[in-house]
Amino acid sequence: MTLPVAVLVSGRGSNLQAILDACASGGLDARVAIVVSNHAGVPALQRAALAGVPSAVFTLRTYSDRAAAHSAMAAAIAGVGAELVVLAGFDHILAPIFFVRLSGVPVINLHPALLPLFGGRGMHGDKVHEAVLASGATESGCTVHRVHPETVDLGEVVVQRRVPIEPGDTAETLAARVLEQEHGAIVDAIRRFVPTAVSR
Ligand code: GRF
Repeated sequence: MTLPVAVLVSGRGSNLQAILDACASGGLDARVAIVVSNHAGVPALQRAALAGVPSAVFTLRTYSDRAAAHSAMAAAIAGVGAELVVLAGFDHILAPIFFVRLSGVPVINLHPALLPLFGGRGMHGDKVHEAVLASGATESGCTVHRVHPETVDLGEVVVQRRVPIEPGDTAETLAARVLEQEHGAIVDAIRRFVPTAVSR
C-alpha cells in the first residue's frame, strides 16, 4: 500500500527532493501528500510545486504562538490523511499539541550526525559539523530517528549511515559528504514505514 507522507521543511529541500524522486521512480512505495514549511518563499516549496505536490506555510508571524501554528499544521497534515510525518530540514521544535492532534502518526527527523553524539538543542547545521571536527572524531554520518514530544534528537534510531572524516575537512566539506548519505538514509527510513502486503 502506498504510504501517504507529510514532509516538513524550512529551507533548501534537497532531502525533500530525494524523497520526491524516490517516489516518482517507483523506488519508494510512498507519495508526498503535503509539504509543510514554517518559512514562506523557501526553495523547498518550489520543489513541491514543480512536483505537483500541495504545500502549506505556517509562519509564527501568522499565528499567535508556536502551539497555534503547530496545531494548525497538524490539522492540515491530518486533513490529507498522512500516515508518516518526516522532518527533513525542519528548524523548529514541534509543540506537544502537534503530537496530540496527530496521535498514532509516527514522526521521524533527519539529523546530520551519528546520534546520540552531537545532538540536542542548538546542535544544527554547521555547528554540528564544527563540533564533530573539534572532537577529533574519525567518522561522522547521519541519523534518522523517531521524534517524541519535548525531546530533541533522543528518539529511537531508524537508520544511520556513516562517513569518514578526511584530512583537511572543513564543516563545509564534511556537511557535503554527510548530505549525500542523508538523501539515501531518509528514503530508506521512510521505506521502513511502508506497510508490507499480507498474502491471504
Ligand atoms: C540536513 O542537513 C538535515 O540533516 C538537517 O537540515 C538539513 C536539511 O537540508 N536537519 P535540506 O533542506 O534537505 O537540503
